[in-house]
Amino acid sequence: MSFSFKRWPGFLKTVLVIITGALAAAVTLFLVAVLAPEKVRAVLKDIGRAGETVSAILPPPLPAAQTPSKAYWLKQNWSARERFWFHHASQGTATFPVPYDWFVSLERAELAVFSTPKLLSDGDYLIRFGFIPSPRKLDGSASDFGYSKDSFNTNPAAEPEQFKNYPENPDGLPVGFAKLESGVEPATGEPYPAQLGFTCAACHTGQIRYRDVGIRFDGGPAMVNLGNLESAIGLSIFYTVYVPTRFNRFADRVIERAVKAGSPPADRSAFKEELKKKLRQTLDKIKHERDWSKEILARGNMTYIDEGFGRLDALNQIFFSNLLPPIAKEDKAFPEVLARNYARPDAPVSFPPIWDVPWFLWAQYDGSVQNELVRNAGQSLGVKTKLNLTEHSNPNRPLFRSSMKMKNIFWIEEMLRGPDPFADNAPGQTPKFKGLVAPRWKEVADIFENDPAWQVDDEKVRNGRQLYAELCVECHRGPVRDPEFDKERPDRRGAERFIHVGADGGGR
Ligand code: HEC
Ligand code: HEC
Repeated sequence: MSFSFKRWPGFLKTVLVIITGALAAAVTLFLVAVLAPEKVRAVLKDIGRAGETVSAILPPPLPAAQTPSKAYWLKQNWSARERFWFHHASQGTATFPVPYDWFVSLERAELAVFSTPKLLSDGDYLIRFGFIPSPRKLDGSASDFGYSKDSFNTNPAAEPEQFKNYPENPDGLPVGFAKLESGVEPATGEPYPAQLGFTCAACHTGQIRYRDVGIRFDGGPAMVNLGNLESAIGLSIFYTVYVPTRFNRFADRVIERAVKAGSPPADRSAFKEELKKKLRQTLDKIKHERDWSKEILARGNMTYIDEGFGRLDALNQIFFSNLLPPIAKEDKAFPEVLARNYARPDAPVSFPPIWDVPWFLWAQYDGSVQNELVRNAGQSLGVKTKLNLTEHSNPNRPLFRSSMKMKNIFWIEEMLRGPDPFADNAPGQTPKFKGLVAPRWKEVADIFENDPAWQVDDEKVRNGRQLYAELCVECHRGPVRDPEFDKERPDRRGAERFIHVGADGGGR
């Protein structure tokens, strides 16, 4: 069949209708994506692979921001300065894929039609991933974040060495975000600008929200979603590269920070060119790592497991991502020899509490680690300490050199551990932990004084102790600060799990 001229107008009309329809659908999809990304994601999920690809460029679904009107840090043997130091001192990691100044200049992974999206690093955005807000420094403002006013008026001169130049948190980032000062890349010798990394507190700080109050405690399980954060950052970089006008705003912020720091770029437009090139490289690297892990999973007939809030598979990957070629190299080939080093993150566990753990005989859920500094160092590699695993020809930068701050990791461990809880103890006596301890229920009961939900019923406690001894001790061992339990069930005492119980039964 051939078209006759007579039929053209009708045909044109149909084409026009189709184009308008498609445009309207695209605009609607875009608007819904801006206003309600979760809805679009749900629809895309149903349309299979193509939907998956589009869904990957939509912001991750996040709960709404809820800022408690009041907050408390519970008493756990640490001063406010020790706390704040633990929350922001760097262990030498560059967990985030971009330098510090870029991170605080990026906009959120959100699309906006009539306004400029706010910053990714804003506290009210990051709390939606489960992070806990933290003050810029320990001054009067810190009481809004749960620090009691009298707790940070200590005499710095009388404090241990690590607090002499304790970190500040100049951009008001959440608990566990630590700035790594600029340095030299151990594998390539290239200088790198200040980076941003996680410290222990990102994953080992707990918060319970009750009646608009934030109850905060160190060493408790975090309720964060690191997978969502990773996609939000990747997406934010993607939008910065591809959504018109975003890059310019981003670059202006980075330049403004350089000006404030006293090192303005000589040529702004050359600086922007270079910045864009590096940002694209970063995006490429993220994309390749993602594609490669997808490929490895597909080969093994496995799918990716979403860890969700409050869980993480921490024990994997170090020998995959650290061995990948450095970012500047253009090598895009699938890293065949490394594929075997990739372990599927398929066992996400809840972040364990870490009080008393320095006194355990063995740590980790699978009881796989005995020496805590080795454990901590391994953990620090897991959250991306800069490390030379590939270059062994330069004697000034030997193999295994890293940006790890062993001294800080040592101090962290010392603070967690505290003095020997078994010293001066009679045999069979309940140990007295003096490092970081679990918070006391009673302290919270006192905050919610007239609230029956928090009041303790002694009879229930007695019954619970019995049930615990029968049902839970097998795996969790006895409680560590309950002399009543030790008296009633000496056969199931909690102290047995600790390092002091050697052949001689004495201290370490
Ligand atoms: C990115 C999140 C993250 C960071 C950062 C992190 N941890 Fe952990 N940590 C975990 C997870 C998850 C586990 C449980 C892993 C397992 O056993 O499979 C764990 C386990 C532990 C354990 C063992 C607990 C037990 O009951 O055996 C200790 C102790 C510990 N971490 C201390 C630290 C210290 C100290 C730091 C900082 C130097 C740190 N962690 C940093 C997530 C993290
Ligand atoms: C067979 C071994 C076993 C027994 C018995 C057991 N648990 Fe557990 N429990 C575990 C393991 C393993 C985990 C960590 C699971 C994870 O995070 O994936 C856990 C986690 C928990 C947690 C959550 C901790 C957190 O931070 O998420 C609580 C609370 C708990 N157990 C209480 C109890 C109580 C109370 C009992 C007795 C009624 C009990 N458990 C009996 C093995 C056991």
